Formats: sequence, C-alpha cells, structure tokens
Amino acid sequence: MNLFQLNLYPGLVHSILWQLRDPQIQKDRLRFKFNLERLGFLLAAELAKTLPVHQVEVHTVLGSTKIEVPTQPPVLVTILRAGLAFYQGFANAFDQADSGFIGAYRVEGDRAEQLEIRMNYAALPDLTGRDLILIDPMLATGGSLLKVWQLIATQANPRSVHVVAAIAAPEGVEALRQHLPEHSYLWLGALDQYLNEQAYIVPGLGDAGDLCFGPK
Ligand code: URA
Repeated sequence: MNLFQLNLYPGLVHSILWQLRDPQIQKDRLRFKFNLERLGFLLAAELAKTLPVHQVEVHTVLGSTKIEVPTQPPVLVTILRAGLAFYQGFANAFDQADSGFIGAYRVEGDRAEQLEIRMNYAALPDLTGRDLILIDPMLATGGSLLKVWQLIATQANPRSVHVVAAIAAPEGVEALRQHLPEHSYLWLGALDQYLNEQAYIVPGLGDAGDLCFGPK
C-alpha cells in the first residue's frame, strides 16, 4: 500500500487541521463541516493526479485547444455518517463520479479490542474495473473501512483502491497495510500518535460524526 500525506499545501492544510482540532472553533458546526469539505477537495486534487486521463479537443467560440480529462470518473464510497461532509469535497472535485454509501457504526465495548463494527445500510454502484475512493474522515482501527472493503471485494474487482482520511492513527494504517490489496493507496491530511482505550485517535479531534451532526 502506498501512503501519501498532504504536505503539498502545508500552510493551507495545517490551517484547516488546526481549525478542525481546536475545541473552540469546532463549536461552529457549519465551519467544522466546511473545513472537512475543504480538506476533502485538496486530497481529491492530489489523488486526481494518479487517475487515468485522455486527451480531448475543445472548440471555444474563438478557437480550439487540447486538454486532458479523466478517462472515467472514480466511484466515491462513503461511510455514514461522519463521512458526509468530507465526501462533499470529493464530490465537488469529481463532479461526474458515481457515489455509494455504507451505514456502519461502532458497538462500543469497554476497550478498543472489544469494539465491534456493524453495517446496516449499503448502496453501491458497480465497481468492476473502476477507480474506487473509500471515504472516512477518521481512520482509527481501520475496522469500518476493512469491513466495507470485504463487502466490496465479494462483489467486484476495482481497478484501484484509494482510501482517504483527514486524520489517521498508526494502528489503522497498519491494519489497512495488512488487509488491502497491493494496488491500494492511502491519502491522509495527518498521521497522529496513537489510539486511546476507546479507540479514539490521539490527539485527533474528537468524534467527527458528533461534531458534524450533534451527539447520538
Ligand atoms: N471516529 C472519530 O470520529 N474520531 C476518532 O478519533 C476515531 C473514530
């Protein structure tokens, strides 16, 4: 698996991550969601450089020019509910993408090892031969993403698999490294320190779903 961190626009990305992490700024729910969307767009712009393109000729009212456009738009698969705001950044960048959604939630045990992931909703486009972008803003244990990947792998064989997260823990990165196929890519805003006992990323930002939509 290839790991990419978004170091390309440090001033911009660090400013977004600071706003996402700061508890005072987080109180503004609209701003929190917009910042996830902005980070998603920046990650999408980087990821787009690796997708296949072909040349088309465009005729304007004044002349013509050749430009490279994506050969086939990717498929965006988002884990609900925390993924929604982050997804919007990818949907803005890949405006012709097909989208799938998976409902997955944690059944909390007392400790991270007892954490169980359950899925209760899946709407997936056909992924055969497509470039798949799996969207989850917080890569903690990697349990939800791997569960989704297992479901997809029983149905289709994507051309490439890209996992995108705003913030990841090393434990989640390692889990993906072990279980995703070789032609996988991981795109991150930041790689943090560790998971705490409740499987939250430290320092992380807290519960992204609650910060977007309120407590459950
Ligand atoms: N999900 C979150 O929202 N935050 C974490 O730290 C881990 C998983």
